[in-house]
Amino acid sequence: MIRGMLVAGALIAGLSSVMAQSDPIAERQEIMKKNNQEIRTLSNMQKGSVPFDLAKAQTALKGTSTDYKKVATLFPDNSQTGHETRARPNVWTDKAGFDAAMVKLISAAESAQASIKDEASFKTEFPKVSAACDSCHDTYRAPRR
Ligand code: HEC
Repeated sequence: MIRGMLVAGALIAGLSSVMAQSDPIAERQEIMKKNNQEIRTLSNMQKGSVPFDLAKAQTALKGTSTDYKKVATLFPDNSQTGHETRARPNVWTDKAGFDAAMVKLISAAESAQASIKDEASFKTEFPKVSAACDSCHDTYRAPRR
């Protein structure tokens, strides 16, 4: 009996971890939160409160383009509510605009990777990446509750 309950408990635990992985809202929020830590470091390099580090900047930008290619796939039609999502309804009613904002960020991150060679080029290129984050948020993300 006890053994049966343990097995059932393990099954349920296994199932809920599968569900967590296939939950697009939780997954997109998690990726963006993690990526945001790297972006914050780059913002601090931009401001000069953290010393410029070319390797770190390149790694973060590469991570950003990879992360957002994944994030772009995590707004299916059935993910409009739940998890206190801050995605506005226009993510789905204006899908073309939303997808274009996603492409704009990914290409900004990729072209920054190609052009950043030193601190000066970083300071010219990085603001284009963060502007692409902000412009999508302004249109498609609701304010914090
Ligand atoms: C194409 C649109 C778009 C782009 C580009 C974009 N975001 Fe977002 N972001 C969103 C939306 C929509 C949400 C709300 C997601 C939700 O709650 O389901 C969000 C949420 C977030 C969150 C909160 C995650 C959480 O719930 O903890 C962070 C942090 C974030 N974005 C950072 C960034 C950064 C940094 C960039 C640029 C590298 C970026 N975003 C680019 C649309 C975008």
